[in-house]
Amino acid sequence: MSEERTALRLECITKEYPLVRANDCISFDVRWGEVHAVVGENGAGKTTLMKIVYGMVRPDGGRIYVDGRPAEIRSPADAIRLGIGMVHQHFMLVDVFTVLENIVLGHEPRKGGAIDLEAARRSVQALLREVGFDLDLDARVEELPVGLQQRVEILKTLYREAKILILDEPTAVLTPQEAGELFRFLRGFVARGNTVIFISHKLAEVMEVSDRVTVIRDGRVVGTVDTPKTSVAELARMMVGREVILTVQKTPPRPGEVLLSVADLWVEEAGKKPRVAGVNLEVRAGEILGIAGVEGNGQSELVEAITGLRPYRGTVRYQGEVIARPDARRVREHRVSHIPEDRNARGLVLDFSTRDNLILGDHYRAPFVDRYGFFRDAVIDDYARGVVETYDVRPRSIHLSARHYSGGNAQKIIVGRELYRKPRILIAAQPTRGVDIGAIEFIHKQIVEARDQGMAVLLVSADLNEVMSLADRILVMFEGRIVGEVRPEEATEERLGLLMAGITEGAPA
Ligand SMILES: Nc1ncnc2c1ncn2[C@@H]1O[C@H](COP(=O)(O)OP(=O)(O)OP(=O)(O)O)[C@@H](O)[C@H]1O
Ligand SMILES: [Mg+2]
Repeated sequence: MSEERTALRLECITKEYPLVRANDCISFDVRWGEVHAVVGENGAGKTTLMKIVYGMVRPDGGRIYVDGRPAEIRSPADAIRLGIGMVHQHFMLVDVFTVLENIVLGHEPRKGGAIDLEAARRSVQALLREVGFDLDLDARVEELPVGLQQRVEILKTLYREAKILILDEPTAVLTPQEAGELFRFLRGFVARGNTVIFISHKLAEVMEVSDRVTVIRDGRVVGTVDTPKTSVAELARMMVGREVILTVQKTPPRPGEVLLSVADLWVEEAGKKPRVAGVNLEVRAGEILGIAGVEGNGQSELVEAITGLRPYRGTVRYQGEVIARPDARRVREHRVSHIPEDRNARGLVLDFSTRDNLILGDHYRAPFVDRYGFFRDAVIDDYARGVVETYDVRPRSIHLSARHYSGGNAQKIIVGRELYRKPRILIAAQPTRGVDIGAIEFIHKQIVEARDQGMAVLLVSADLNEVMSLADRILVMFEGRIVGEVRPEEATEERLGLLMAGITEGAPA
C-alpha cells in the first residue's frame, strides 16, 4: 500500500438505463487511508456506481483500477477477491442464523471436509478485538437491533479481508449514538491504511467523518473537495446547483380542534413486555406533534396501531370518531395519511408502476374508479403526473416500476402519495429518510403548509434535528411510554437525549 498507488481509480464509468444515464463518464480517485464521501441528489447515480465497483451491475463503459492495477470486476466474488466489501442499506443477513454463522457464511474454515466452527470463532474473536466491537457471536441476528446487525455486515466484509469498504447510507437507520460508534470504527479502519467510501445525505456527518468528498450530479462528477476546506452549505450548493435553505421556516402554530386523540393505548404480545404501555396524546388541527425516541421504544407499534395495522387496547379517535376494529382502510377513509417507516415493506409494491403505487390505498374508490367499479385510466394518469411533477420524482415517468427508483425517489413517491390526497391527519414516520437535502427542504415545506391549512401531524423521527425543527410540541417515548414533553424552543439534543435514555430528571412523568 504505497503512497503512489491509489486504492481505487474510476475512469469514465458509464451506465445507461432506458430512461436515464445513471453514470455519465464518472472519473475520480480514492486514496488509501481516507474516508471518501460520495454525495449527490436522489437519483444522481451513487448507488449505481457502487454496485458497479462491487460487481453487481455491469457498466457500459469505463475502467476500474484497484491498488493501481486494472481490475475486471464481473461479480461480487471478484470484488471480494480484490479486497472490496460493501454494506448495503438493506442488510443481507440470514435472520435465523447466529452472528458467527452469518459472518463466516460461505467462507467457513474446514477441517477434513467438516466446518470448523471453533476455528471460525477464534478468528472472528480476534477480528472483534482488532476493531473494538462488542458483539455476542451466539446471538441470533433477528434479535439484534439494527445498529448491531450493521456491525455483523461490516464484520462479514472484514472476515473476507476487505480493505476497501463501501457503505451506502449506513447511518439512515442508526441512532446518533450508533452513528458515532460507527464513525469511530471507520476512522480506526482507515488509520490502519484501509479505505472507506461513504455515501450519505447527512452532510453534517460527511463533514465529521470524511477526508474528501466527491459530489455527483445527474450522473457526472461535479468535483472532489477536501473536507476541511468545505462546508455543508457549499456541498449542498454543489449537489443541487442552487442555495438550499437549511432551516425550516414556519410561523407559530394556531392549533384548532383535536383531530387525533389516543387514550390509554396498549400494544401487547403474550409473554412479552408491552410494546406500547398506556400512551395518551392529542394532535390538533394546525399543529405538528413530534415524537422523539431511540428506535425500538414502541414508536413503530404506536404508529401501526393508530393507522389500523396492528391490534391494540385503548381508544383512538379520528376527528372524534372511533373505528371499532383495527382497519387500515377505514382509517384511511377518515382522511388519515400514513408515511410508513419501512418503504419497501409497507410503502410500495415494488413490481407496480409509479402510477399504480400512487393510488394505492385509494384505488378502490372515486375518483379513481367509476360507479361501475372500472378504473378511470385518464384520471389516474393525470393524478399520477401531478404527484410526480409536484414532488420532483425522477425520472419523471409514471410507468417505471417502483424497484427501479433510487432510494430517495422511492421515498418521494410515498410522501407525494400521502400528501397529495390532502389528508386531515398525517402520521409521518421518518418522512425524509434517505431523501436529499433539497428534497428535505421541499417535504418540510409541504408539511408546514398543510399544517397551516389545518392538517394535524404526528411526526415520528429518529432524526432529532428534524423533530426539533419541524415539531410544535415534542413528546419523548421510552420503553413504550411517553416520558416527557419538551417545547421545541427549550429542546436541545442533550435534553432530549437524556429523556430518550429514560432519565426523567427526578420526577416521574
Ligand atoms: N435497474 C434499473 N432500471 C432502470 N433505472 C434504474 C435502475 N437502477 C437505477 N436506475 C436509475 O438510475 C438513476 C440513478 O440511481 P441510483 O440508485 O444510482 O441513485 P442514487 O444516487 O443512489 O440516489 P439516492 O440518493 O436516492 O439513493 C436513477 O434515475 C434510477 O431511477
Ligand atoms: Mg442510492
